[in-house]
Amino acid sequence: MNRGKPTIWRPFTIQGESMTTPLLVKSGNGLWLQLEDGRKIADMISSWWVNLFGHGNAHIACAIAEQAHRLEHVIFAGFTHEGAERLADRLLEFSGYHFQHAFFSDNGSTAVEVALKTAFQYWKNKGEHKRSRILAFNNAYHGDTLGAMSAASPSVFNEVFSEWMIDVDRVAYPSTWLGDHDFTDKEFEVLKEIELLFESTPESFAAVIIEPLIQGAGGMQMCRPAFLQQLEQLTKRYEILVIYDEVMTGFGRTGSYFAFQEAHTSPDLICLSKGITGGFLPMGMTLSTAAVFDTFYADDAMKTLWHGHSYTGNPISCAAANASLDLLLQSDDQRNAIKNTHFDLLPQLVQRTEILNKPRIQGTVAAVDIKTSEEAGYLNSVASQIKTTAPEYGLLLRPLGDVLYLMPPYCISEAELVWAYEQTEKMLNKIKKASF
Ligand SMILES: Cc1ncc(COP(=O)(O)O)c(C=O)c1O
Repeated sequence: MNRGKPTIWRPFTIQGESMTTPLLVKSGNGLWLQLEDGRKIADMISSWWVNLFGHGNAHIACAIAEQAHRLEHVIFAGFTHEGAERLADRLLEFSGYHFQHAFFSDNGSTAVEVALKTAFQYWKNKGEHKRSRILAFNNAYHGDTLGAMSAASPSVFNEVFSEWMIDVDRVAYPSTWLGDHDFTDKEFEVLKEIELLFESTPESFAAVIIEPLIQGAGGMQMCRPAFLQQLEQLTKRYEILVIYDEVMTGFGRTGSYFAFQEAHTSPDLICLSKGITGGFLPMGMTLSTAAVFDTFYADDAMKTLWHGHSYTGNPISCAAANASLDLLLQSDDQRNAIKNTHFDLLPQLVQRTEILNKPRIQGTVAAVDIKTSEEAGYLNSVASQIKTTAPEYGLLLRPLGDVLYLMPPYCISEAELVWAYEQTEKMLNKIKKASF
């Protein structure tokens, strides 16, 4: 029937002879995934960064079950429900009321798409029709829909679709790491380039989009809060909207609830998803300031944001998100403990293995480059070596090419994280013997 070829066409996976058989997962509990073959694997990347509080969290699971019995879904235009109203209110409260309005969608790419469309239309609604350019950053990843792909850096992920994309201006992301001494020069160069762009084409930029503090899929590159603050000064001077793509950085990953708070900055729009439901169900959210929303507040069809998805504001997803926010409120100590252990152990890992470079830590995320003889980047073969070797050491790791990172769920205990570092070291030593 399937001619020996796989039935399921997998995401981000080369479909061919080289494809490895996916591991069959039976259940999950906290940090751990139980495989059908009896092995237990520690999920050190929170399953693509969504799982904040561990697998099978009882508080979220119960909230979902209760909601499913009460109301599974209802159209979100002309109707609403308590869970969505409460979630929107609470998210605005978590943002310190910097944001005043919440637009629901259903994944990270759509949260970005909504932010980009909102930024474009904001200018049109204000009668400024020339403001259509977007400034983005090299190495960025914003998702797989067309607008989100356009804002992302050209890469193997999106090259095929380049003719379909909107034109975007790009500058370098001033990445820094522990022991880096050149950060001010790098930031200065980037800011100079941005200022030149803004100055040479006045009133043509609609918005800047950036992954604040950490670029995720682009290799866990990290920048300083000071850079974001200076970027903000520039955008304010030229009256350009700022979109923070916090799909990965949101919900405590960088330290504060949101990266914009950790960086003491005030973007106009933020995109949220991934951890919003604690990894249980899909949901996207775009938060906007009052100033942005007010340009849409008119009884005029041409000023309306005509965007929506069938599952917008799904009650079960909202129940999961509300339960997840309860847990986020109690997670400060857990998140601090992860950060402190990263600061203790990552430098030691670098020193002992001798094949790692540029260690960097932001909140619960630790990353490092692996020195290999191949070109740096997503297709570096060390990634597939690690993906297949890590389970032998009880770990789920999925390097971004030559970038290895640890982003555990907040429920990980100190002993488990120390163990994960020890196992990572053993695994790297095995790989080093085989290939260096
Ligand atoms: C920063 C960022 N934005 C957007 C996305 C897209 O999210 P989704 O995969 O839910 O569409 C991702 C996914 O990794 C991301 O890391």
